[in-house]
Amino acid sequence: MAIHQRPVFAANWKMHLGPTQATAFMDAFSVAVAASASDRTFIFFPPAISLAAVRARTQSRPDFRLGVQNVHGEEKGAFTGETSVGMAADAGASFVLVGHSERRHVFGETDAQVAQKCARIEAAGLTPVLCVGEKIEQREKDETESVVLHQLRAGVSAMSDQAVREMLVAYEPVWAIGTGRTATPDDASVVHRVIRAALGELVGDGAHEIPILYGGSVNAGNVASLLAADQVDGVLVGGASLDPAGWASICASR
Ligand code: 13P
Repeated sequence: MAIHQRPVFAANWKMHLGPTQATAFMDAFSVAVAASASDRTFIFFPPAISLAAVRARTQSRPDFRLGVQNVHGEEKGAFTGETSVGMAADAGASFVLVGHSERRHVFGETDAQVAQKCARIEAAGLTPVLCVGEKIEQREKDETESVVLHQLRAGVSAMSDQAVREMLVAYEPVWAIGTGRTATPDDASVVHRVIRAALGELVGDGAHEIPILYGGSVNAGNVASLLAADQVDGVLVGGASLDPAGWASICASR
């Protein structure tokens, strides 16, 4: 599902907000954000166990989209604790975070697994949000560009060009996630331009349609300058997306 309304405000709740808290969040957020705001896109990535609760509150809001934080690369099977793409779609998800730094670096997810997941997500008719980003030691060794491009090319390697044109990419430097250290708008732009150029090599002009989100310690104080940066089409936010009033005020920025 291609995204046309920008900026994109994507909330990754990680392992926070169970069904009761998620319902309360959506009730408060829906009041705070007017339904007429059709000049931007909101995507919620609750924990899988809270999907139904969030879905119940998004059905009257076509501007609120729903995603899952992870899926398994296989279609189905004996994979205790995992979520399949089919189940995610059935539960109302349209988007899937893939290759998030916590999946890569806490759970050891490889580029090959990320690629398999992206292909599986495409086959299920869902849209991947492919996350890429360098660690601090890689940045210090000037490897940011090569790390990000490698993750990007590997991630989309089993996808069709058309699905790539409709996907989203999130640049999340690992050193900026949950640390309070944000990339400067210029730092973000440099990497976003590299990603855009690589997408252009892959799919031609359609690359301009692909939203590239920035993530990593985005908050109410820095969101406007990040959104104003060249090639930044939206934000993917963890900690600052957990409070409905705070998230609503961030989502009012552009
Ligand atoms: P924080 O906004 O908490 O730094 O997390 C960013 C992130 O990982 C979003 O996916």
